[in-house]
Order: sequence, then structure tokens, then C-alpha cells
Amino acid sequence: MTAVSSGKVTIAALKALKARGEKAVFVTAYDYPTAVFAERACIDMILVGDSAAMTMMGMPNTLGIGMEEMCVFARSVCRAISHAFVVGDLPFLSYQSSDEAAVLNAGRFVQLGCDAVKCEGGARVARRVRAMVNAGISVMGHLGLTPQSLGPLSGYRVQGKSRFAADEIVEDARALEEAGAFAILLEAIPAETAAYVREHLDVLVYGIGAGPQVDGQLVISHDILGTFAGEIAPRFVRPYARIGTDIEAAFRAYADDVRAGRFPGPQECYSLDPADEAEIHEARARLCRGRSAERAS
Ligand code: KIV
Repeated sequence: MTAVSSGKVTIAALKALKARGEKAVFVTAYDYPTAVFAERACIDMILVGDSAAMTMMGMPNTLGIGMEEMCVFARSVCRAISHAFVVGDLPFLSYQSSDEAAVLNAGRFVQLGCDAVKCEGGARVARRVRAMVNAGISVMGHLGLTPQSLGPLSGYRVQGKSRFAADEIVEDARALEEAGAFAILLEAIPAETAAYVREHLDVLVYGIGAGPQVDGQLVISHDILGTFAGEIAPRFVRPYARIGTDIEAAFRAYADDVRAGRFPGPQECYSLDPADEAEIHEARARLCRGRSAERAS
């Protein structure tokens, strides 16, 4: 039950973890408090994912979020982090159009304090990956279910379900590895396929819904904390808390107390010195008497 022990998590530290046969623990975070709690829990890696579109902004998919919003989330997370390895997720249209766009947008994440960036796709984005790596930026690839390609994939579907599909993922992974990616994230593929892909690669391989035979596990923090307010519930999610239910119960209890006059109570009020209090109390009484007299005349 170890983690990268002390100091800042680096790619070298993640490789050492793998060499020891230990798993990296990887969660998403989009805000300062969640990142603080993740640090305190000794989480190794944090993804500032474009899933923020759905978890934080209530969008139906990840296609609507842009660099400006992602930078706000990345800045908030990086402010909290001194240990975990932070990956900024390049949103839709931030790297697809040109090498220059990819380098400039990836560079923004690095300037905010991210240790690496992630982009979706295989051979078709290998050129972009090479351009970012040549600019000195560490890049994580993302294969399998790639939510920015929701149309071509016909929705959120498990990928890599045949030997042919597994070999396609291997080819894409190799293209990313050759382009200089330091790691590849596999999303929503069968455990056997993920193990097969990993066996063809030298780079670090992480998984979300890709079974246990990978170098580390990613989850969306809202899924394990019970704060996702949307409808999607992938089978690979295990709830570790029901914070959404607790939040709703707290809001209901507060509303009941306000409506019933139970909040605020004496302990939630600021007090005065007794002499000042008596003076103000008397002034209020005079005001009240004056108003009653006016109404009576
Ligand atoms: O944005 C994100 O959180 C992701 C994961 C779903 C892999 O890309």
C-alpha cells in the first residue's frame, strides 16, 4: 500500500513505481478543495479532465468545453498541488487543427503548473504529439473510448472487443509511443485487451474501465465521491462516498431551520457589550413608540 513517497511526482518516479510492480493512483480534479483533499490522501496523479464539461458544468458531453474554462480549472488545481503529477486535458478543437495550436494550448497548461498534457487519438494525432514533445512538453495519449469522437464511435461504447480491434489499438499506441508520448491512457476496453496492448508497449499504461493489468487506475472523482449530477453510470465505477446525498440532506435541513426560525440561533449571532446592547435596545424601543404614535395621529 505504498505511493510515490515524498517530493514531487515525476515521470521517473512513475516509472520507478511501475518497475516495483506498484500501481499509480490517478483521479480527476477540477477545483482547489478537491485537489487539496487528493494531496492529503497521497494521490499520485491528477487529471484536470475535460470531463469537467459534464461534472462541473452540466453539459451532456465533453465537446462544449474550451481552453478558457480548462485553464480556470487547471489553475485552481495547480494552486493546491505540491506532490501529485498533474495532467491537463486538451479539450476538443484545442489541438486537432494544427501543430502550432497543439503546442500553444499545451504550453498554456504547462505555464499554469501542469506536468503534462493529454490528448485523444492514435496515429492520426501522432504528428501533434511529436510537435508538443519537441517543444519540451510531456504528453499522455488516450485510446479506446475517446469521448471527443462521440460521433464516429456512435456514443459511449466499450472498445477493443475483438482481436482485430485490439490490434488497431496496439497500432495506435505504438504510433503514440514512437511520437514520444510518455504514457497512454486506455478507456473502457476489456481487461484482456488492455493487458494485450500493454504487453506491446514500453511506455506507462494507465486505465479507466480497462481492468487491473495496467500501471495505474484513473477514476472520475465525482463518480467515486457520489457528486455526479448527470445520468451516465459506467459499470467500472465503485462508489466510495455519497457526498451528493449528504449535500442535499444538508441543504434540506438548513432550509427547514430557516423556514422554522431555528436558524440563526444565539450561538450563530454576534453579541454586544451589555451597556451598548441596552442603549441600542432602548433606541429601538423609542423608534417603535414614535412609529406607533405617528400611526395613531
Ligand atoms: O476528461 C476526463 O476525465 C478523461 C477521462 C474520462 C479519461 O479524459
